[in-house]
Amino acid sequence: MLNWDKYVSKASAGLLEFGIRKIFEAAQKLEAQGSRIIHLELGRPDFDTPCHIKNAAISALEAGEVHYTSNWGLPALREAIASYVQRKTGVSYNPHTETLVTVGGSEAVFLAFAALLDPGDEVLVGVPAYPTYLNVPQFFGARVVSFECPVHLNFAPDPDDIRKKVSERTKLLVLNTPNNPTGSVYPADVLEELCRIACENDLIVLSDEIYCELVYEGTHVSPVVFPGMRQRTIILNGLSKTYSMTGWRVGYAVGPAALLTPMYKVHQYNTACAPSFCQIGAITALTSDQSCVDVMRNEFKRRRDLITSYLNQVKGFTAPTPQGAFYAFPRVSVPNMSDVDVAFYLLEKAGVALVPGSFFGAPGFLRLSYASSTENLKSAGERIIEAMAQL
Ligand SMILES: Cc1ncc(COP(=O)(O)O)c(C=O)c1O
Repeated sequence: MLNWDKYVSKASAGLLEFGIRKIFEAAQKLEAQGSRIIHLELGRPDFDTPCHIKNAAISALEAGEVHYTSNWGLPALREAIASYVQRKTGVSYNPHTETLVTVGGSEAVFLAFAALLDPGDEVLVGVPAYPTYLNVPQFFGARVVSFECPVHLNFAPDPDDIRKKVSERTKLLVLNTPNNPTGSVYPADVLEELCRIACENDLIVLSDEIYCELVYEGTHVSPVVFPGMRQRTIILNGLSKTYSMTGWRVGYAVGPAALLTPMYKVHQYNTACAPSFCQIGAITALTSDQSCVDVMRNEFKRRRDLITSYLNQVKGFTAPTPQGAFYAFPRVSVPNMSDVDVAFYLLEKAGVALVPGSFFGAPGFLRLSYASSTENLKSAGERIIEAMAQL
């Protein structure tokens, strides 16, 4: 038997397993034993991808669009991305030098870290956070410096707190609004102040805007609209959440050419390009009628209100109303039980899969995705109320 550990790189050994998958796998085990589990742990819309988008990809396949594309992405898709960003933010980008198509938003995030981080660099990340932001910088020898996004500020950060955490080594500020896991949408004045901090301290902002179409009150504001930010922001986005295309794996980065070019270099060695026919579907998604986005957003809003009304009746839960994305993030307090204990208790007792806040760096909370049917949400709500009442 080989000493396997000897062969595994320290960087990969240091990566924590993606916690959300742990719950998913435990749920699957219970299902294999005959339990009916309601899945509220995964962050994926439950809708089918709209037909006109699927048809575009099907036609592309039939027409033989089965080869590598430019590693930057199809020119027509890059133009569609630049005009989408212009439409949404008023800021224009050169599609040929300032956009990069990636394999999902996930690859865009990874490339940004790979292209920008050196060992010893510091990355400011708001907690609770999407696990990638807590774990991947360390893969490149950088250090995550977290700042709080506390519940009493509706999970938005306090700029003064961030100011105190900036050091000479700080290179990146990660912003993710609307936020996974909290559903928070940062108020524009807070965002503006964060951008001021980035300018004053010469930081690059990685702005993860993957939930930008899912804002239920008001509209999404991108950091690039604030003075001095266009040159120091990389927008990370993708089609997964907006058009229910999680399986298509199309994402993108938009930003200054000097920052996208090193990302492109890593991308060439990594995935080369996003799938050709998926890119063609993505062109249709971004350039055709957007009413499917409104329909899904309205439905998510209705479900948000529904799940919040249930969560507010749960013993031990405090549930602020999320303003965006499709996650609720109630605080849970049960004597002698951690959030991880409660999540596994609810999985086994109530048959509801949700994710402990600890997996997002925030013990004492639970994350539920309400991207699930009304029937599932009602049933999950009732089961959680009943199971928690028994504690
Ligand atoms: C905040 C955030 N960023 C990026 C991603 C990556 O999404 P994808 O790779 O499907 O585009 C996700 C997915 O859950 C996310 O929640």
